[in-house]
Amino acid sequence: MTETVLESVRGRVGEPVLSVRDLSVSFRSDTRTVHAVDGVSYDLHPGEVLAVVGESGCGKSVTSMAVMGLLPPTARIGGSIRVGGRELVGAPEKELQKIRGKDIAMIFQEPMTSLNPVLTIGRQIGEVLRRHQGLSRKEARERSVDLLDLVGIPAPRSRIDEYPHQLSGGMRQRVMIAIAVACDPSVLIADEPTTALDVTVQAGILEVLQSLRERLGTAIVLVTHDLGVVADAADRVLVMYAGRSVEEAPVHDLFATARHPYTRGLLGAVLRPGGEGKRRLPEIPGLVPSLDSQPDACTFAPRCSRADETCTAGRPGFGSVDPGTGTDAAHRAACWHPYGAGEASDILTATPATEPARPDQEAGK
Ligand SMILES: Nc1ncnc2c1ncn2[C@@H]1O[C@H](COP(=O)(O)OP(=O)(O)O)[C@@H](O)[C@H]1O
Ligand code: SF4
Ligand SMILES: [Mg+2]
Repeated sequence: MTETVLESVRGRVGEPVLSVRDLSVSFRSDTRTVHAVDGVSYDLHPGEVLAVVGESGCGKSVTSMAVMGLLPPTARIGGSIRVGGRELVGAPEKELQKIRGKDIAMIFQEPMTSLNPVLTIGRQIGEVLRRHQGLSRKEARERSVDLLDLVGIPAPRSRIDEYPHQLSGGMRQRVMIAIAVACDPSVLIADEPTTALDVTVQAGILEVLQSLRERLGTAIVLVTHDLGVVADAADRVLVMYAGRSVEEAPVHDLFATARHPYTRGLLGAVLRPGGEGKRRLPEIPGLVPSLDSQPDACTFAPRCSRADETCTAGRPGFGSVDPGTGTDAAHRAACWHPYGAGEASDILTATPATEPARPDQEAGK
């Protein structure tokens, strides 16, 4: 990629490549409205890895699909999503098509469903290159070999003519990453990219993502419910709960001094003696609220041991955990009574919730 294009796509150093502001997404059917995302904001800087974590059903994938402009027509979207300074919310589909793949790309949990079983992997990578970059068949093939090499596929010159079913799950995910980065996007969204893979294969995929960031400067949104992956791969973490952002911090701050009771609950089971082996999000007592409404209150209150009448009377803003000092601007939380930096956690209590959780919202799934 030339310097000029790099500048135009990635902007000046320090400026976010992706900026999400007050994003809301709801799905309306004849019988109900699901408020899947409610007021999520984050920035992603060049070459940065931002992990997005939270229980199943908290809106991680819907947020990602909104950024990609891939939500179904039943979705109503509010707020702003800017990539390289361009607004994507409300942009015509034609413009989104140009941006997708070129400036921003996504990989999913299950690579087999995203690959075409009847085309060789070389054809599939090559098609992206020919469509977006106008390469000839021969040029596209050469570049495809380079890309397979970049994502760590051994003997790429011979494997390029293989079909997806001839590859292992880990190799297929590498192919998906090669397709995603074919046009050198400034932003890569990886939605649970290692969840379907076993642990040793996962490590290889994370290494590929790290090397992309180092070699190409790709900024990555890494959606995961594996806290081990967060600790290994992320620079910064955004914690979501029931469609809202509840805490955001540099990864070391989050693991050392989480301030939001929900984050404390997530990390507690992992950090407790004997809990080191638990990498997945643990279960927190109580039920995730229904998303039929987004109340003007803290939605974590029914599960929170620190909840009081303030928490049920108004929605906490998402802001610095130490607004007075300004020393912790990068650490933000949405809580009326956040933990202090050195304060020990008390035990989360389970208060019966009024709404049963739907199966897709079971904790830690
Ligand atoms: N197309 C859709 N129509 C209606 N509801 C949806 C749709 N896609 C997702 N949802 C709902 O939005 C909520 C958030 O889902 P999702 O973002 O997939 O969660 P996760 O954090 O597990 O990725 C869930 O309650 C889910 O059922
Ligand atoms: S706002 Fe209140 S209920 Fe919500 S997490 Fe903070 S202390 Fe708990
Ligand atoms: Mg998901």
